[in-house]
Amino acid sequence: MTTQLISPRALSPRRVRELQVEVRALARTRDAVILAHNYQVPEVQDVADFVGDSLGLSREAARTDEAAIVFCGVHFMAETAAILCPDKTVLMPDLDAGCSLAASITADELRAWKAQHPGAVVVSYVNTTAEVKAESDYCCTSGNAKQVIEAIPEEREILFLPDLYLGVWLERVTGRTLNVWLGECHVHAGIRPQDIVRWQEEAPDAELLVHPECGCASQCMAFGNERTHILGTEGMIRFARSSPKRRFLVATETGILHRLRKEAPEKVFEAVSERAICKYMKMITLEKLRDSLRDWRYVVTVEPEIAERARLAIERMVAIA
Ligand code: 13P
Ligand code: SF4
Repeated sequence: MTTQLISPRALSPRRVRELQVEVRALARTRDAVILAHNYQVPEVQDVADFVGDSLGLSREAARTDEAAIVFCGVHFMAETAAILCPDKTVLMPDLDAGCSLAASITADELRAWKAQHPGAVVVSYVNTTAEVKAESDYCCTSGNAKQVIEAIPEEREILFLPDLYLGVWLERVTGRTLNVWLGECHVHAGIRPQDIVRWQEEAPDAELLVHPECGCASQCMAFGNERTHILGTEGMIRFARSSPKRRFLVATETGILHRLRKEAPEKVFEAVSERAICKYMKMITLEKLRDSLRDWRYVVTVEPEIAERARLAIERMVAIA
């Protein structure tokens, strides 16, 4: 295992190995698969069965044979797995791992918005609560948002939520006009234009990988520059693996650097902003993961009536590549 320690309360390498052995043994006896998002701390990524983006994790949850899924990510991701897999137990090591973007729209707010646009198609980013998904026609992730918009007939009006910057980027790449909700992720919105300027001045040899949730000005400065690529987290991994270039600056949550360095060890990856840390993603620790498997907690459930209404939108997301 190639764990590097960057978690807030660093464990000794020996303790990390002991806990990882304990976690793997518990996963086996509990018949559980461990899924981890690309932003998780390195020692959690390294012990997982599968590490990926929101789309990959949903697809993996849908196809798993194990009786239980332990979700190392944030709450909406575990909820999505619970909706896709009603016969499985979905566990989350810390229920407080939320998402500021998902919190930026409620189901009541969406119902009021829909009432102002009767007949519009509702496309929700996966970073939303189950109640919001239940009010939606399609879900999407950063990995397939463009394809989802393109799957909707040109003449239909679209409400896109909740991320403003992803919405603006989608308008650019699809040429469609969208009604966009004014939500944002505090981590990505906090990556400032001056962080991009630093890259342009100090690293003219580097490729820049920018998540579409990043602030509008940062995206604008990046757009149309042939060394700049606007990609979801798994898109960044695929791009870095296949690119002949050696140096990459990464504008997203810094947890992804561990995965990038593992997948392309011969290349150099640097964060555009070292401050881009999602405190929610970092709430999941190796100890909490061990406790979750050992004590069978915390079970994530979605009310059957909400799950039933949200399932179609999520299944459309999983199906559209
Ligand atoms: P990805 O779907 O690109 O992994 O992003 C998820 C997320 O929460 C971004 O902040
Ligand atoms: Fe939510 Fe932003 Fe954290 Fe992603 S990085 S989980 S969008 S708060």
